[in-house]
Amino acid sequence: MSIDNLIRLKEKESRNVIGLMSGTSCDGIDACLVKITGNGLSTEVHIMGFETYPYRNEIRELIFKASCKETGTVDKICQLNFTLGKLFANAAVQIAGKVSVPLSEIDIVGSHGQTIYHISSLKGKNGKKVRSTLQIGEPSVIAQETGVTTIADFRTSDIAAGGEGAPLVPYVDYILFGRDGTGRAVQNIGGISNVTFLPTDRDINKIIAFDNGPGNMIIDRFAEIITDGRLQYDRDGELASKGKLNQDLLERLCTHPYLPKQPPKSTGREDFGIQFSDDLYKELREDNIDIHDAIATITAFTAKSISDSYRNFILPYYEIDEVIISGGGTHNPVLFQFLEDYLVGIKISKVDDFGIPSDAKEALAFAILANETISGNPGNVPSATGAKESVVLGKIIPGK
Ligand SMILES: Nc1ncnc2c1ncn2[C@@H]1O[C@H](COP(=O)(O)OP(=O)(O)O)[C@@H](O)[C@H]1O
Ligand SMILES: [Mg+2]
Repeated sequence: MSIDNLIRLKEKESRNVIGLMSGTSCDGIDACLVKITGNGLSTEVHIMGFETYPYRNEIRELIFKASCKETGTVDKICQLNFTLGKLFANAAVQIAGKVSVPLSEIDIVGSHGQTIYHISSLKGKNGKKVRSTLQIGEPSVIAQETGVTTIADFRTSDIAAGGEGAPLVPYVDYILFGRDGTGRAVQNIGGISNVTFLPTDRDINKIIAFDNGPGNMIIDRFAEIITDGRLQYDRDGELASKGKLNQDLLERLCTHPYLPKQPPKSTGREDFGIQFSDDLYKELREDNIDIHDAIATITAFTAKSISDSYRNFILPYYEIDEVIISGGGTHNPVLFQFLEDYLVGIKISKVDDFGIPSDAKEALAFAILANETISGNPGNVPSATGAKESVVLGKIIPGK
């Protein structure tokens, strides 16, 4: 019965898809309900609804604990996989309810899950020989609770094909923004920032994509420390706007070893998470650096690591006509201003200008990737992940 259902789903011309995503910020589950017609370059999307369902503090703490080498024990990860599965399922149920589409009319759920750990480098500190990644939020629970065919665990197939498993959004950027022959950098600023550069000739093999470095992650942690946990992020850049840029500190931050690494490259909490931020905070206190200057400067660091990465890895080969930004970082005006300063001469717009809400973009991406998988199309961009070949992504749990 379920397998017949899969064949029927593959044959459909258009599908109602729910994309579910929680990024490295661990702020909550983004859910996007979208009607997708066609597949590949003929994909047309109509976003019906979008919402972020924030994690309760207690869940956020559990994710941070599970993501940390010292505290992430197997029992905690085992349990959290199912706890998050339930929360992801709830997010799917709620977004369908919000848009008044019955679950019986949803064709697929595409769930990224929550990344707990990501080992992208083959030559890590411990001389690791294989890459690995772990996203949790058990898709069997999502399929069971919603009755909808669920596709999840997209990154592992790319790693199995020799890639880093990230970034995966480039294929979606190629579908959504790669059509009209403009040299575009599609820049997401979540916990980590990542870019897809689409060359003018629409050649998928020439796409340059990588994680630039930190997005909001260090800013979030500093905001939390400074306000004794009252704020989980620097709302509207208010804390940063009280400080001024410390050029020496900025230059020091820019010596981080991730930044000069050649793409393909990806990063995460392992490089710029709580450990990094807490060590930095301690160092800055010892140096008597004003706390607001510190937060202004780490905000500038995010913008500078983005602009420097263009200068080092894109601009030597291509002109950038336009930068299109998305993700939670678009809400921080101080960050936006630094970006404008560092990218002087390049037009910056927001994905919202293209009819896609900034905060919905990544969830939409996983809806589109799920649509590609059910259509039998590969969803990775080998030039972005370093994979040996294009592969169909994800694991499919048939619905009822
Ligand atoms: N009003 C705001 N002002 C400043 N930053 C914001 C605001 N709203 C969201 N953010 C930032 O966006 C982050 C969430 O962005 P998101 O794109 O969901 O990242 P991720 O994909 O890593 O979850 C928050 O942690 C915060 O840093
Ligand atoms: Mg998020």
